[in-house]
Order: sequence, then structure tokens, then C-alpha cells
Amino acid sequence: MNTKPEIQNFDGLPQSIVLPKTGQTVIFDVYRPDKDFQDLYEIWWEVIDKGQSYLQYTTNEQEFQEVFVSKSCFVFRLMDNNKTIGAFHLKPSAPGRASHTGCYERIVHKDYRNIGLGGLMLDMVDIYAPLLGYKSLIAYVFATNDASIATNLKKGLVQTGCIPRAVYLKAFGFTDTLIFHKSLTND
Ligand SMILES: CC(C)(COP(=O)(O)OP(=O)(O)OC[C@H]1O[C@@H](n2cnc3c(N)ncnc32)[C@H](O)[C@@H]1OP(=O)(O)O)[C@@H](O)C(=O)NCCC(=O)NCCS
Repeated sequence: MNTKPEIQNFDGLPQSIVLPKTGQTVIFDVYRPDKDFQDLYEIWWEVIDKGQSYLQYTTNEQEFQEVFVSKSCFVFRLMDNNKTIGAFHLKPSAPGRASHTGCYERIVHKDYRNIGLGGLMLDMVDIYAPLLGYKSLIAYVFATNDASIATNLKKGLVQTGCIPRAVYLKAFGFTDTLIFHKSLTND
């Protein structure tokens, strides 16, 4: 399988943004393997190892390339040192007749959580998902993931469902998966 990501270019990117909570400047950009791969893979590895927010038991570089950065992936880098501290991707939630619904996944480095990046990612999803052709958004969130739930609700997603005991998480055991939805159009 060819895992080389297509690099999509968008007017206005890279863009610098000051985080209101800390005053730090971050660069918002599309994923560029030469700048972002190593830092992002380390974040991904730590998240998977924690076993509380993604489905994988273990991971490796090939899987990361296939599942996280192969399609429409956007990153945040610290302006000061170019370190990549978080990313999200957008993919169709399902193929064919459901492909107008976008599904996003986010990861933020553990040392840079709770400073607004996860919420900012959802603001960017609101801008870039329509440009990529999506008409609505769906997110699957484990019921123990308070930060993800808080940011989804704050950014206007609505919980539309719950799959009881859908996953088995490290430290939590059997856990519900919540389904969040947001329409991006008025029709
Ligand atoms: C989920 C995640 C992306 C959120 O990113 P983040 O940068 O920390 O998000 P933000 O800083 O924008 O916001 C976090 C919010 O959650 C709130 N929060 C954090 N922990 C919380 C908790 N235990 N209970 C309630 N709210 C909590 C914070 O107070 C903050 O809300 P505020 O903006 O009103 O203060 C990040 O925690 C992460 O990468 N987690 C590991 C991977 C993951 O879970 N991805 C999502 C899978 S669905």
C-alpha cells in the first residue's frame, strides 16, 4: 500500500495564531512529513500506549501513516522551535453515499493539553471540512474522555447516540462510545 500522503495546499496556510490562554504563537499548517512525522508519531505512540482514547492495542509507524496522516491532516507547531505539538485529520466517516459526513480525530501532546489546542482544532475543522466537501461532522468519543467531550460540546456538536460498552479501555474496562454530530449546512 502506498502510504505517502498527498499534500494539499490551502490559501492562507501556514498561518500563525496566538493562543489566548498562554500567549504562545503556534503555526497552523498542513501535515508535512519532513517537519512533522517524528514529533507526531511520538504523540500518537504515547496516546495509544495510554490505552484510553483510541482503539489500537499497539501501534507502529506504518499504521500511523495509514490511519492518521494519510489523508487531510493538519498540524500545530510551536513558533519558537518548530516542534509539532498536535494534529487532527478529516476523513469520510464511511465510503460512497455516506462520504459527505466527515469524521475527525485529534491528538495533542500531553504537555500542551488544556491550553486551547483541541478547541482550536474544532474551529479549524469548521473552516476546512466544508472546503474538503463535507456537509456534516461525526465524532466517536469514549465516555471517559472528558476533555474530548468538553471541547465537542463547546464547539456545537450534539450527542446523538451512545453505544453501550463498545470498547475495553486500559484502567477503565468496558466503556460506552458516545456519538457526536454537527451539520455544516443549512439544508
Ligand atoms: C482530547 C484532546 C484532543 C483535547 O485537547 P486539548 O488541547 O487539551 O483541548 P483544549 O485545551 O482546547 O480544551 C480542553 C477542555 O477540556 C476540559 N477538561 C480537561 N480535562 C477535563 C476533565 N477531566 N473534566 C472536564 N473537563 C476537562 C478543559 O477544562 C478544557 O475546557 P475549557 O476550554 O472550557 O477550559 C486532548 O486531550 C488529547 O489529545 N487527548 C488524547 C487523545 C484523544 O483523546 N483524542 C480524542 C479522541 S476522541
